[in-house]
Amino acid sequence: THIALIGAPLEEGSGRRGASMGPMALRIAGVDSTLRDLGHTVTDEGDLKPVPARDLANHPKANNLQVVAAFARALDTAVYDAAHSGKFPLILGGDHALSMGSVSGMARHAADLGRPLFVLWLDAHADFNSPSSSPSGNMHGMPVAFFCGQAEFAPILDAGRPFVDPKNVFQVGIRSVDAREREEISEHGVNVFDMRAVDEIGMAHIMHDVIARIRAADGLLHVSLDVDFLDPDLAPGVGTTVPGGATFREAHLIMEMLCDSGLVSSLDLVELNPFLDDRGKSARILVELTASLFGRRILDRPTRSA
Ligand code: ARG
Ligand code: MN
Ligand code: MN
Ligand code: MN
Repeated sequence: THIALIGAPLEEGSGRRGASMGPMALRIAGVDSTLRDLGHTVTDEGDLKPVPARDLANHPKANNLQVVAAFARALDTAVYDAAHSGKFPLILGGDHALSMGSVSGMARHAADLGRPLFVLWLDAHADFNSPSSSPSGNMHGMPVAFFCGQAEFAPILDAGRPFVDPKNVFQVGIRSVDAREREEISEHGVNVFDMRAVDEIGMAHIMHDVIARIRAADGLLHVSLDVDFLDPDLAPGVGTTVPGGATFREAHLIMEMLCDSGLVSSLDLVELNPFLDDRGKSARILVELTASLFGRRILDRPTRSA
């Protein structure tokens, strides 16, 4: 696979500082060399530095809208261009608001191919708020509502972009959902596998199901991995930790099953906040999980040297 690394040092969607250092931390943790060692070609496109979108008015309930929209627009283009030229876009975040752009870019690419886009949302949160429903105004809690076409977001990217069908969104690991979000995700038919489902059904069964449904529809799959999907003991480097997250083995199993499926077309690594991390631990686990997605097997995983 030819992988394009696209750095998106966005932190303005998150309500605190630090996620802008995420792309650098992932590079220092060796994302490029790890993928090359697995036999892939890697092009690092560097970091996006978009100019704030001054054509948009400030919004009292969409914090830092001009910066978030600028990243969304820049990523929409960068991700579309990479995918269109046959590369696998791997987005180094940056907070989760960047998925407004990455998923929109992949939705345009999928539309070109005449195939449906599916999204696997690995997160503690549903991220289905809109400016009017958000308790915080932080746009990293809004990307799923955005790419599912909620009308409030119309001015952020050009009208006419293809939306993702909410029924093609699979959320796994969910354990913190706001009141209005709960109503929205069920109204729109988002597929939610919360932590109770993970405990009761098991990750293998859930992923088997998800993969079968995407394959049956001949879909493309975008994977969006929020650090807070993982248990905070494992990955403390994120601003919105929630107890009771996915284990090391559950997360690796997902990546290994996705690798075998051959369905994944693009990946976001988001919400890493190196300012909150413990000696690079969270950055390193993201790189390890990425390696599993790109073909590393347990028996050739290097011995851990913390
Ligand atoms: N639901 C909360 C909010 O809307 C938290 C969202 C957290 N999102 C994230 N990508 N970490 O503010
Ligand atoms: Mn998130
Ligand atoms: Mn989250
Ligand atoms: Mn709605």
